[in-house]
Amino acid sequence: MERPEPELIRQSWRAVSRSPLEHGTVLFARLFALEPELLPLFQYNGLQFSSPEDCLSSPEFLDHIRKVMFVIDTAVTNVEDLSSLEDYLAGLGRKHRAVGVKLSSFSVGKGTVGESLLYMLEKCLGPAFTPAMRAAWSQLYGLVVAAMSRGWDGE
Ligand code: HEM
Repeated sequence: MERPEPELIRQSWRAVSRSPLEHGTVLFARLFALEPELLPLFQYNGLQFSSPEDCLSSPEFLDHIRKVMFVIDTAVTNVEDLSSLEDYLAGLGRKHRAVGVKLSSFSVGKGTVGESLLYMLEKCLGPAFTPAMRAAWSQLYGLVVAAMSRGWDGE
């Protein structure tokens, strides 16, 4: 797999990481539109959300958004040596498998998570999101998912 170009990743992440909650919300609103079946996987205190809007405005879910953006931020910081995150990401994959997430939602190319990530970057950056940046993010996403997918091994 090709290595993501670090400077393209850092440059494009700068604007996004200034308001993580806002951009994380764009990502998950898109994800629920593409794959509404994911909504019931988010349950806090045993309660299901009745709509994506309810979910996207709940404090617990906003914490999940912060966690997601923090993981991406960490991947950006370590873009030149993602192997240092391998064990953490495998554990994160295991956690998601345990809460009922299918690896297919994450899969590269056709998974809804990767598509929502690229959608969010495009919304945030507009024309500044160049094809070269898109390629770099697809590569970074591919590496993160490869590491997370170890958590689904044996499925
Ligand atoms: C299909 C999309 C996803 C679903 C359905 C999902 C679902 C969940 C659920 C139900 C939890 C446990 C409750 C919570 O902590 O709020 C969780 C935890 C977490 N998720 Fe996700 N998640 C998704 C995508 C992601 C992505 C893309 C990342 C980051 C790359 C991520 C990072 C985390 C982290 C860091 C935790 C906390 C793990 C811990 O407790 O150690 N999630 N996720």
